[in-house]
Amino acid sequence: MTDTDAVTTTGPPIIELKDLKVWFPVHGGVFARHVADVKAVDGISLTIHAAETLGVVGESGCGKSTLGKAVMGLVPATSGSIRFHSVSGESVELTQLSRREYRPYRSEIQMVYQDPYASLNPRLSVEEIVDEPLRVHHRAMNREQRRIRVEELLERVGLRKEQAERYPHEFSGGQRQRIGIARALATRPRVIIADEPVSALDVSIQAQVINLMQELQKDLGLTLIFIAHDISVVQHVSDRVAVMYLGNLVEVGDSKQVFSQPSHPYTRALLSSVPRPDPELKREGRIVLEGDVPSPMDKPSGCGFRTRCPIAQEDCAIEDPAMEQINEGHRVACPHWDRYQQLLDQRQ
Ligand SMILES: Nc1ncnc2c1ncn2[C@@H]1O[C@H](COP(=O)(O)OP(=O)(O)OP(=O)(O)O)[C@@H](O)[C@H]1O
Ligand SMILES: [Mg+2]
Repeated sequence: MTDTDAVTTTGPPIIELKDLKVWFPVHGGVFARHVADVKAVDGISLTIHAAETLGVVGESGCGKSTLGKAVMGLVPATSGSIRFHSVSGESVELTQLSRREYRPYRSEIQMVYQDPYASLNPRLSVEEIVDEPLRVHHRAMNREQRRIRVEELLERVGLRKEQAERYPHEFSGGQRQRIGIARALATRPRVIIADEPVSALDVSIQAQVINLMQELQKDLGLTLIFIAHDISVVQHVSDRVAVMYLGNLVEVGDSKQVFSQPSHPYTRALLSSVPRPDPELKREGRIVLEGDVPSPMDKPSGCGFRTRCPIAQEDCAIEDPAMEQINEGHRVACPHWDRYQQLLDQRQ
């Protein structure tokens, strides 16, 4: 069996989120009293499978980075659960760990950041940057073993080993992101959370970095959580897609299904601006959402999307929409999704 045969897209659960909330308290007034909460992540339940690529999409401020940081243990969860199935076979509740207790799992879950200009320490050479996680997590490796591993990693991401002695400023944006990827891979993680890994790069080199990530995901059997605000970026790389709006999941499903049959009014709107070859889908025309995204500090009652939804009904202000399964593995948080066209026609 080759390496790639061993990789399936629907492996066993590796990370399970249950009603996860990450709220940031806001303090105000002379007594710095707790006046409100920014509900960045507001009740997300989602199972991520080993060796799959999950695209997480949604507009700026909908909580994508906060979700990634919560899984990385970088921001505390307010409530809910993040269960991680470690390589050792144990299952740990990440929300209950202190930073110190989290450390052993950090080598299994790594992050690639959005801005390769800001995320690499300019005073360290490429070798030192990629070596750092090895020094922290692989104390048994000696200097020479680490040097060899760093060289392997650089070549793995398409850089030359001679470039190890150079500094970040000597590289282009795309090359810097490759260095960030090499660093993330150093500890042989099982999960990579890539938070908008290409949005700071020139369009001309975005595809190269996306292809590299996709290739690494397949070859190494990684679980890749690919965060993007632009749904077309994740379209071709994701096995599944999760669409977020104002701290909630509105739709999740197999990529092909979500793209061919977007069912939440928000997903329909997001996709209506992406050119697609299927003439059936094209006919729907572009859906322009009116108004601004409400503040996560002051969310509308009921469905968070109702203030901009083209088919909002009275009951949408009352009930929090539950995730409903509409097809195998395809879930939508809108009780009216199946009457979309009918409701739209009634409005016009
Ligand atoms: N540390 C924090 N303290 C207070 N509010 C925060 C903090 N971090 C994020 N927020 C707020 O939480 C909300 C979600 O932010 P987040 O960065 O997760 O969104 P995002 O989907 O990643 O957006 P973008 O596409 O711009 O990166 C925003 O309203 C943001 O201002
Ligand atoms: Mg972000």
